[in-house]
Amino acid sequence: MFYGGDYNPEQWPEEVWDDDVELMREAGVTAVTVGVFAWSHLEPEEGVYDFGWLDRVLDRLHAGGIGVVLATPTASPPPWFTLAHPAGLPVNADGVRLTHGSRDTYCVSSRPYRAAARRIAGELGRRYAHHPAVAMWHVHNEYGTDCRCDLTAEAFRSWLAKRHGSLEALNEAWTTAFWSQRYSDWAQIMPPRATQYLPNPAQVLDFRRFLSDEMLGAFVEQRDLLRSVNPSIPITTNFVQGGWVSVDHARWAAEVDIVAVDHYPDSADIAAEEETAFAGDLARSWGGGRWLLMETAPNLIYTRGRMHAKEPGRMTRHSLGYVARGSAGAMYFQWRQPLGGAELFHSAMVPHAGPDSPVFREATSLGRILAALPGLDAGSPAAEVAVTWDAPSWWALQGAGLPSAGIDYLAAVRQAHRALYRAGVATDFVFPGLPLDLARHRMVVVPHLYLVSAEAAAAFRDFVASGGTLVLGPLSGIAEPSARVLPGGYPAAFREISGVRVTEWHPLDPASPVTLDDGGTARGWSERVELTGATARARYAGGVLAGEPAITRHDFGDGTCWYVSAGLDDDGWERLLRAVAAEAGISAVLEGVPPGVEAVRRGPLLFLLNHNPSAVTVPLPEPAVDVLTGSSVAAGAAVGVAAGGVAILDCQGWKARR
Ligand code: GAL
Repeated sequence: MFYGGDYNPEQWPEEVWDDDVELMREAGVTAVTVGVFAWSHLEPEEGVYDFGWLDRVLDRLHAGGIGVVLATPTASPPPWFTLAHPAGLPVNADGVRLTHGSRDTYCVSSRPYRAAARRIAGELGRRYAHHPAVAMWHVHNEYGTDCRCDLTAEAFRSWLAKRHGSLEALNEAWTTAFWSQRYSDWAQIMPPRATQYLPNPAQVLDFRRFLSDEMLGAFVEQRDLLRSVNPSIPITTNFVQGGWVSVDHARWAAEVDIVAVDHYPDSADIAAEEETAFAGDLARSWGGGRWLLMETAPNLIYTRGRMHAKEPGRMTRHSLGYVARGSAGAMYFQWRQPLGGAELFHSAMVPHAGPDSPVFREATSLGRILAALPGLDAGSPAAEVAVTWDAPSWWALQGAGLPSAGIDYLAAVRQAHRALYRAGVATDFVFPGLPLDLARHRMVVVPHLYLVSAEAAAAFRDFVASGGTLVLGPLSGIAEPSARVLPGGYPAAFREISGVRVTEWHPLDPASPVTLDDGGTARGWSERVELTGATARARYAGGVLAGEPAITRHDFGDGTCWYVSAGLDDDGWERLLRAVAAEAGISAVLEGVPPGVEAVRRGPLLFLLNHNPSAVTVPLPEPAVDVLTGSSVAAGAAVGVAAGGVAILDCQGWKARR
């Protein structure tokens, strides 16, 4: 179990370091991430290195039994870099070249930046790849910057030439006949830059794909350097999810030894628990079961407009929620709260108040809990239900010129996941941008899968034909991966399996929802649906579509395809997915779980996370052993879980449940 956080000894005098190691031992910390933003300390002048302090830090940590996740510091080039290599700085869409003063100020396509990054990574590799403290390499930090400079333009053109093969093919894929954008020379193609009106959506989408591949190239360069020195040390980079991040993590996952994820829920209410479950399931699915929570906030979280202190027990519950979903540990940003710098009030395991503080006490108790867990295998994805995740569809649906400003890919996927979470059903994610293997799943939910390749459409068809249950949400199967619309009626790629043909979209004013005849509500979105084989399960009960199908069901081959044309609210999705799952014979992880309690299986362990402010009891169908107290629980007996608390039960011998 990795338990610890980002540790920045370079921000502190050396006398604090001994105190740090002692406190880490007290808290049960097993590993810390060192060096993430330490470039200006490691290479104070170009080509001049100072590793003495890092030697002393690593030796001290090792002597204290603390492992090190050693970072390459390439997410924040030092000020000397700016002056020596102005071409290594990013240029934004308005043509403004940024300068140092923050972090992530570099252009990933610039040769001087790449050379400088390789150099410092290579030096670190040579010096520390055999240091006994080093347990893992952490390359860079949260790849995700964006640059539109001339060097980027050159790299973009080469990438496009490989993707499209010829200018003709590019002109076709980008529909450049629209608004006289036809390119007659590769040199005419630019990254999306400030322009007069709406940009070309296919150009914007390809640019985001290009950035993802370009950054991946930068990661792979460092990874291969480090691997060549000592192949036995696992190498990762921490993924961050955000609408601005042009990284297709599902693709990147194949290039890291273990998926590592940073996750910061931005809600203070139950939505934070739902987000945690979402992030954990997504990370586990990216990693094929193997992943590590690399960063989260131990205490104060940024909610919209203010910071929110986690209530007692919440740090523990969140952390164990990630572990229950397969994380190889719980790591935080950060170990010690800094006295200055841009994030000076960001929470830490050792806050400004020092170790005599609620957060440090909770960190210490969590350290004991993690140490008490039996050795766990990777959290193998074992769910029968999957939701689709597709970064390019997200990017395409962030574009301008769409039929509603209310379209929100992330919100749609989270809503589908949330409905299954509330139904207590274990959920994986699958990635239609990669070769799809749906054989493990019995039910797949497809929210807003706007772009779909012919291969993915065929995989969904085979899935349904051979007995699977597919639930298609609106805005799915609309366009080819290039973003060109598939004609003939939506959901074009899925018309045959869904047995419906959508002839018009009717985006709704979110303030004026429309009711459905099954008691549900359509908010923000509705469609005119023609039945071409499907039967209507709910119809619009008001508005211009009154009497028209809203939710449909279609038997296709041995399986079933549902189509949801309406922007259902949370209750509607939960009701629908509960009913569809029940029909498909899929049950909850554990029956009889009170509301607000989460039951998650990881191998032999059952985690019960009580998000309620009052204690609950949960009946167990078979005998189990409480891992934290050592007591046995008989079959049919109820296990008590304290208010905001967690119970972890060893369920070895239970018949297979997901
Ligand atoms: C992460 C980042 C950390 C820190 C943290 C604050 O995205 O990797 O360095 O900035 O956010 O929440």
